[in-house]
Amino acid sequence: MNIVKTIADLRAAVSRARGEGKRIGFVPTMGNLHAGHIALVKKAGQRADFVVASIFVNPLQFGPNEDLDNYPRTLAADQDKLFEAGCHLLFAPSVEEMYPHGQAQQTIVRVPGVSEGLCGGSRPGHFDGVSTVVSKLFNMVLPDLAVFGQKDFQQLAVIRTMVRDLNMPVQILSEPIVRAADGLALSSRNGYLSADERATAPSLYRTLIQLDVAIRGGRRDYPALIAEGLSALQAAGLRPDYLEIRNAIDLQPVSERSTELVILAAAYLGKTRLIDNLLVDIHTSA
Ligand code: PAF
Repeated sequence: MNIVKTIADLRAAVSRARGEGKRIGFVPTMGNLHAGHIALVKKAGQRADFVVASIFVNPLQFGPNEDLDNYPRTLAADQDKLFEAGCHLLFAPSVEEMYPHGQAQQTIVRVPGVSEGLCGGSRPGHFDGVSTVVSKLFNMVLPDLAVFGQKDFQQLAVIRTMVRDLNMPVQILSEPIVRAADGLALSSRNGYLSADERATAPSLYRTLIQLDVAIRGGRRDYPALIAEGLSALQAAGLRPDYLEIRNAIDLQPVSERSTELVILAAAYLGKTRLIDNLLVDIHTSA
């Protein structure tokens, strides 16, 4: 696996691979890789001949009181994991390489609609930072396809909308959430949890499952279900940021006609903000 830190070296390595007729797959990450990221790299390897991953903790997507400075940076361990997963090229740029004219002067890509509410409501500017850095990375790598995790469900919807609206010639693929044995969705931020918080954390997923069971059992009183879910989260010791049931296709509020739903939640355990979601297909349920 080659490791490059500059856009010039990245472009040279990718164009060599493309010159050999290879299809380029891309997995953008912020590092501190876990099994969820590795599943994305493996998927890229199944669908493309040359896999590029990036590791860049993107300051533009962090709010002023968020965890940018403390975000775990584990480049050496990440390199080993990427190599084992079959990655061919790692792009690990500096902040200066990505934002040579400063962040304040950076052109911003903003995706209206799907980026609003949910995490976009709680983290103003977050999705502008994500869509901007992902479009820059797409322009640098020029991949045929890119793979994102479904844990960041709203992020995936933002990226799909951006690619559609800006006619970007890249196919977006996704991979299901990878969970620990007790159900907690894998996340780099799980490393912030104390032992007690880690024991409480699976309650987030358990609450989503309770709602899923109720909906598939025929309940459609969504506001009451949300109220019950919020109480369950609080009773378990979590501080809910949001819990919502939306249409999975466009993240619009759920309606009578919705058949593919997604239950989305964000909640704090101490200072750590966890997110999770669960797709509910009610085509076939009661
Ligand atoms: O999901 C992430 O890790 C980040 O939001 C991404 C897509 C790499 C952009 O910085």
